[in-house]
Amino acid sequence: MRIAVIGDIHRHWDDQDVRLIDREELDLVLFTGDLGGATQRGARAVAASIATLRTPSLVVPGNHDGASLGQLLGEVVHSRPLIRAFAPGHGARSSALQRALGPVPVGAYSLHRFGSLDVLCGRPHSMGGPTLSFEPAMRRSHGISSLEESAQRLRGLVERSEAQDLLILAHNGPAGLGERRDDIWGCDFKKEEGDFGDPDLRAAVDHAHELGRPLRAVVAGHMHTRLRGGGQRRWTLRERGVLYVNAAQVPRHRRGRRHHVLLTLESGHVEAEERWL
Ligand SMILES: [Fe+2]
Repeated sequence: MRIAVIGDIHRHWDDQDVRLIDREELDLVLFTGDLGGATQRGARAVAASIATLRTPSLVVPGNHDGASLGQLLGEVVHSRPLIRAFAPGHGARSSALQRALGPVPVGAYSLHRFGSLDVLCGRPHSMGGPTLSFEPAMRRSHGISSLEESAQRLRGLVERSEAQDLLILAHNGPAGLGERRDDIWGCDFKKEEGDFGDPDLRAAVDHAHELGRPLRAVVAGHMHTRLRGGGQRRWTLRERGVLYVNAAQVPRHRRGRRHHVLLTLESGHVEAEERWL
């Protein structure tokens, strides 16, 4: 099985991407989210283009998908009043994005079967780190009001998966894979660095290990591979038989070429390679 992972798009997607990806004759295209930039208009144009892909596809929403500038600011400065004040409209904006994606499903706390592979979509809209992003919106749309509730939901999905192979798709990766700025989901925007992975996704991965589930890969983005202050983050890591991929090459259009990560899944083993079409 050949799968393309498209990292955070941030408006770097057009109909030429559709042609190039379809020409690859892949089995599946996975999007880690953040389709637009600061405004929803850019995101909707990207979504409308993704909707025309002939290859089966799946999108998990990022923190920019459905969020207003006020919400994002509230999250960055950890202001509960701001987060609450700007929460109304998040659901409607997320639904508009879903409509623009047409036949392409939006994954959030969900399982999707493609042949012998289950793709488990994690928590949508994650901004990373030890707090639940967009809590009022997450409560309204998904009935989740804490990271512990989110972990519980994800563990339940791991238990439900009965496919031969399991892959997790999320916007941000799991906690527990390093605390340095250049680690796969390490924090590059604080002097003290640190682990900026999602603790609830870590709980899901640990649960898969405990149950002996055939978890082959975890693919996500959000923490851009080009680091603030210079340097590159590592984008792939293998641990306990699981391949972790951070596909967030931002911008993904460079010098006329377009980035994706190609996953090859064969007999329960996954390999990843970066490709520029
Ligand atoms: Fe993001």
